[in-house]
Amino acid sequence: MNKILYFIFNIPCRIYWKTKNTILKWRGCDFADFRDPSFEFDIGYQYRPSRVNDFRWIMRKIDSEFLPFDQMSFFDAGFGKGAILIETMKLGIPAVGGVELSKNMYEICRKNLKILGREKENTKLYQANAADLTKQLDDFNIFYMFNPFPEIVLKKFMQNIIDSIKRKPRKFFVVYHHATLHQTFQDAGWLLLYNRPIKERFKPEYDTYDKIYTFENFSDE
Ligand SMILES: C[S@@+](CC[C@H](N)C(=O)[O-])C[C@H]1O[C@@H](n2cnc3c(N)ncnc32)[C@H](O)[C@@H]1O
Repeated sequence: MNKILYFIFNIPCRIYWKTKNTILKWRGCDFADFRDPSFEFDIGYQYRPSRVNDFRWIMRKIDSEFLPFDQMSFFDAGFGKGAILIETMKLGIPAVGGVELSKNMYEICRKNLKILGREKENTKLYQANAADLTKQLDDFNIFYMFNPFPEIVLKKFMQNIIDSIKRKPRKFFVVYHHATLHQTFQDAGWLLLYNRPIKERFKPEYDTYDKIYTFENFSDE
């Protein structure tokens, strides 16, 4: 019964996104889900764009309570085809960047940004494993993740953020969308600033959390 209700409840949403994606496809863009076969799950997961409404909601939360949009420099860890980079630009965040492991998606993202007129000189996009970025992180104060990689990569990425903050002290926040590995943050002593349960109607097994973290020692810098 729940399966049927879930299907019916989501019809308007599906129609909206199908129409939007079809129009974008006509324009030459590509934001379809994608699993790049060039890497395994032990280094990273597949591409699926964040839900735009959830993204806007959590970003507005940061804007109103922690750091205004115009002071943000936003880094998407695993930007895929760039849907969230574009949403970030639409919010008026002045500096945007990120890293993507897949060379294929890195190219697609660049093409999408170009077609949609969102190519900017100060957009810093890297094609690499997020675990390998160090000084490049110094330019950013919002680190966004939508469940991109497993714990082994996440731990390195978290350490690289802390090293970056030590190098260049600043207020910073990690936004973790669909926070499956939240225990890793907790175990490492990060400070949970906000926890938003996301309920999926008629599919309780899809219920999840969006979380905002900073690192205790640096929260007041
Ligand atoms: C769930 S998608 C999220 C896409 C985008 N951030 C969003 O929210 O719409 C995860 C992305 O992370 C990328 N990824 C996976 N492992 C990675 C790694 N180790 N380093 C950089 N990117 C990675 C994947 O290729 C994929 O595009």
